[in-house]
Amino acid sequence: MPINLQVRWGRILLLINLCLFSFAVLLNMWALRGWNSFGNKELLQASNSHHRDPLGYYPLLDVATYGPMRFDAELRGKSIFKGPPSELLDNAWSKLVNQPMILVDNEALQSFDPTSKPSKGVDGHYYATVEVYHQLHCLDIIRKFIWRNHYQHVDTFMDPPQMVWEHVDHCIDLLRQVLMCNGDIGLIFYTDVGKEQPIARVSTTHMCRNFSQITEWVNGHDSELGVFAEV
Ligand SMILES: *[C@@H]1O[C@H](CO)[C@@H](O)[C@H](O)[C@H]1NC(C)=O
Repeated sequence: MPINLQVRWGRILLLINLCLFSFAVLLNMWALRGWNSFGNKELLQASNSHHRDPLGYYPLLDVATYGPMRFDAELRGKSIFKGPPSELLDNAWSKLVNQPMILVDNEALQSFDPTSKPSKGVDGHYYATVEVYHQLHCLDIIRKFIWRNHYQHVDTFMDPPQMVWEHVDHCIDLLRQVLMCNGDIGLIFYTDVGKEQPIARVSTTHMCRNFSQITEWVNGHDSELGVFAEV
């Protein structure tokens, strides 16, 4: 009798255990299902946003990857792009800015600029410039304007003074919009130097597109029409 009773209790406990276990498994499956469908939804939205962006189709989207990059922004720091005009400086800027126009297909044209009368290239492709070079060109124009006595021979500065001013003004306003568009939310901290004003530490790390990859790609897709039509 006591043995029988033990066996019976054992079976009841096993049954209860099985019930609890099954319930736990079901609960887990339900939870995982919820988790997965949430994850999928996020992923779908993320990948959809690439394609349904108002500027939906970027040929360079997968070409220029993001990575951490430390800005070298010290007030007296040395850079090939800094300093008064010299041949070395001009070459550096010219190499940076003067990149060839490319040819892109109708899909890219339609998503970026569907209303304009496009300047057609070859094989149903259209001439285009990657924006960053136009923006860098604008920065270069401002730089040259500061040293305009030295750069009198530059085409832009041979225009009537009012036009030159308009061009520089256009460039400043374009770059304002570029900066606001990118809305850098990085933070700048300060070094305390006793009684004086703290010093801003401006050489911080940012997530940046790899610029070499952009330039390499653009040169690999050279339309052979030259650098962009100046704006
Ligand atoms: C950028 O891409 C080039 C290849 O074009 C690579 O050599 C370089 O290491 C990359 N730079 C960074 C910071 O990832």
